[in-house]
Amino acid sequence: MQHRTLGAQGLAVSAIGYGAMGLTMAYGPGDEEAGIAAIRRAHDLGVTFFDTAELYGWGAGSNEILVGKAVKDFRDEVVLATKFGFDLSDLSQGFGLNSRPDNIRKVADNSLRYLGVDQIDVFYQHRVDPDVPIEDVAGTVKELIDAGKVKYFGLSEAGPETIRKAHAVQPVSVLQTEYSLFERDVEQLFPVLQELGIGFVPYSPLGRGFITGTAKPAGEYDATDMRNVDPRWQPGNFEKNVEAVERLGRLATAKGITVSQLALAWLLAQGEHVVPIPGTRSAARMEENAHAADVTLTEADLAAIHEILPTGGFGARYAEEHTPNWV
Ligand SMILES: NC(=O)c1ccc[n+]([C@@H]2O[C@H](COP(=O)([O-])OP(=O)(O)OC[C@H]3O[C@@H](n4cnc5c(N)ncnc54)[C@H](OP(=O)(O)O)[C@@H]3O)[C@@H](O)[C@H]2O)c1
Repeated sequence: MQHRTLGAQGLAVSAIGYGAMGLTMAYGPGDEEAGIAAIRRAHDLGVTFFDTAELYGWGAGSNEILVGKAVKDFRDEVVLATKFGFDLSDLSQGFGLNSRPDNIRKVADNSLRYLGVDQIDVFYQHRVDPDVPIEDVAGTVKELIDAGKVKYFGLSEAGPETIRKAHAVQPVSVLQTEYSLFERDVEQLFPVLQELGIGFVPYSPLGRGFITGTAKPAGEYDATDMRNVDPRWQPGNFEKNVEAVERLGRLATAKGITVSQLALAWLLAQGEHVVPIPGTRSAARMEENAHAADVTLTEADLAAIHEILPTGGFGARYAEEHTPNWV
């Protein structure tokens, strides 16, 4: 497995990471045993970068506990990233944002306990909170870094001004935002990331599973699966996205790889500052995804991919009421 360095503070990770969200939310019921097996297989394959969040455990730590349990025998060999910034105090009302300093400190202590570690390697603000100045957020993370509870600072779904202001208080090592062959908007932030020396972690790098050739029409997933309401799965968009993935699949087959590997290799080809974190509940798929780091795409491959999907997939990335805007 190749390694990459995210940002200028020395955050070194495997070129392909692992995202744990789907083990406890978003894509229907999870299976703890299978999730642990997938994480351990990832480690065997040289994956060293694992992504979780307070949110993925619905405020009760279930995702972080699962990740902590899976990595406990090799914790010192891996980088654990988690996230704060939601208000999960009354889930019957849904969840809002809360990046107030007291909440950040509380989430850090909970995450340390749930993960079973004495330091969080990467602590991301999950969403920018318009009610809390980003300087206060960065200052609080700086205190946690000074106290040894956190190693590196990250932002998620942040816009250029927020990134600059945060970075001036506490250097930001990494930005995490949706990015895939289906979602290209974030490319406009790459110059700022390059200027400030910040790494980039594409989330949902397989388009929430669409760019794997396994997408089913909305309504055919478990009732709790968010893809039932995802615009890219709705009639009109769905068929066009399926057709694009089929064309990508033919390109992948001609290269002797899978379409998932093509999608991940394309991300890796966008710059040395990019480390995707595909999520899967399956050890076999983890293996497939990890081997994307071995794929080299030629200029001709990149041109053929561009011809199939020049600007992204069909349909918005979130159902409208949930659309996060960079702030
Ligand atoms: N910062 C944020 O706001 C944010 C938002 C969303 C996600 N994330 C992070 O990004 C990570 C990845 O994103 P994601 O899980 O949304 O989407 P993703 O990685 O694009 O896709 C995950 C889906 O693809 C399927 N899949 C994975 N590999 C496959 C393969 N080789 N063949 C066929 N199907 C495959 C998985 O199903 P199976 O499990 O059945 O394999 C799962 O349903 C998350 O786990 C989370 O850590 C962060």
